[in-house]
Amino acid sequence: TTSPDLLVVGSGFFGLTVAERAASAGRKVTVIDRRSHIGGNAYTENEPSTGIEVHKYGAHLFHTSNATVWEYVNRFTAFTSYVHRVYTTHKGVVFPLPINLGTINQFFQAAYTPDEARALVHELAGEFDPTRAQNLEERAIGLIGRPLYEAFIRDYTAKQWQTAPTELPASVISRLPVRYTYDNRYFNDTWEGLPVDGYTAWLERMADHPNIEVALDVDFFDEAQPLNKDATVGQLPIVYTGPVDRYFDYAAGELSWRTLDFEQEVLEIGDFQGTSVMNYADADVPYTRIHEFKHFHPERADRYPADRTVIVREYSRFAERADEPYYPVNTTADRTGLLAYRDLQQGEVGVHFGGRLGTYQYLDMHMAIGSALSMWNNTLA
Ligand code: FAD
Ligand code: NA
Repeated sequence: TTSPDLLVVGSGFFGLTVAERAASAGRKVTVIDRRSHIGGNAYTENEPSTGIEVHKYGAHLFHTSNATVWEYVNRFTAFTSYVHRVYTTHKGVVFPLPINLGTINQFFQAAYTPDEARALVHELAGEFDPTRAQNLEERAIGLIGRPLYEAFIRDYTAKQWQTAPTELPASVISRLPVRYTYDNRYFNDTWEGLPVDGYTAWLERMADHPNIEVALDVDFFDEAQPLNKDATVGQLPIVYTGPVDRYFDYAAGELSWRTLDFEQEVLEIGDFQGTSVMNYADADVPYTRIHEFKHFHPERADRYPADRTVIVREYSRFAERADEPYYPVNTTADRTGLLAYRDLQQGEVGVHFGGRLGTYQYLDMHMAIGSALSMWNNTLA
């Protein structure tokens, strides 16, 4: 086989977008991934006994206000009219999220108008000045007041971080938006929806080009495989979307991440919770939320079983090196380490660091795709 014009390490949305653009411009591209499937964390597969599409690395909802990205993604898939909504269970009662007039009136057993609710939250929030908060708890109370904070934020945040909010830096929360309408649409973007044929079909179509070769179960750092780091850096252009600290063998320390554990169950009932995502706000429930995947695709009702359903309980914790890194923790040490890695990148001729792992940044899918399009247009093309 001839050597490619471009090596892409990682077949997530960032790597596949760069690969697709390069291939369409006539370059020969090889994409390697250490996993045994393409698509990175957006990968989904159908649970075998029910055929229900399950998101293996956490539920993924596509949404964007970026017209360039929306036009681009529609080349590979159509989107359903799914609109994301999230509910939460607190002390045995279900409330709508994000906190809105419906949440407030249900919580206070009231019929406040928007102005009355705004005045109430403003008064309750007077306990702290959020700009002078010493920790996450003080910031949150200063933004929405103690009652709503204790019901909907305190224990959920403690479960997400395995840390009391009084021990978390105030900077973890910048805003806590409260909506003074009954609108509980989760995202504010111009476009949202789920890929009609599923995420994996979308991702496979991006890779389906005569100029793209995909090699799975191939680790960039495995010297036994021909396209490894030592053999390729400086020899051809490389787009690297793996963890930036791993690339430099942790020379400036390990960047810290949170990870998630998923507990999947097939139930012999038609409908477990009546909605796709139910958060659990309280400390006595160990998981943060339950996903029920059939509700992401009501239009598949004729294909999905009426008497069975798939649910996944999600637990959150700090990641060890062997865990999947999901959310950057972003401590002061992490920010210092990231700056050191950015300096080291200057010395890596022809290696382009991108994606959520390569830049140590939480990126929504539309952001990963948008920044890959920019890297192609501004640097690689
Ligand atoms: P990834 O998808 O992580 O792909 C990186 C790839 O690189 C992986 O396949 C990995 O195996 C490979 N790799 C790493 N190291 C090596 C190596 N040494 N050799 C070879 N290959 C390697 N976004 C949304 O827009 N909406 C959502 O609802 C949403 N929900 C999310 C929920 C969770 C729990 C998480 C964690 C993320 C969510 N996201 C969501 C974000 C979305 O997952 C990212 O935008 C997307 O994964 C970014 O793509 P990427 O290519 O940068 O990274
Ligand atoms: Na305040």
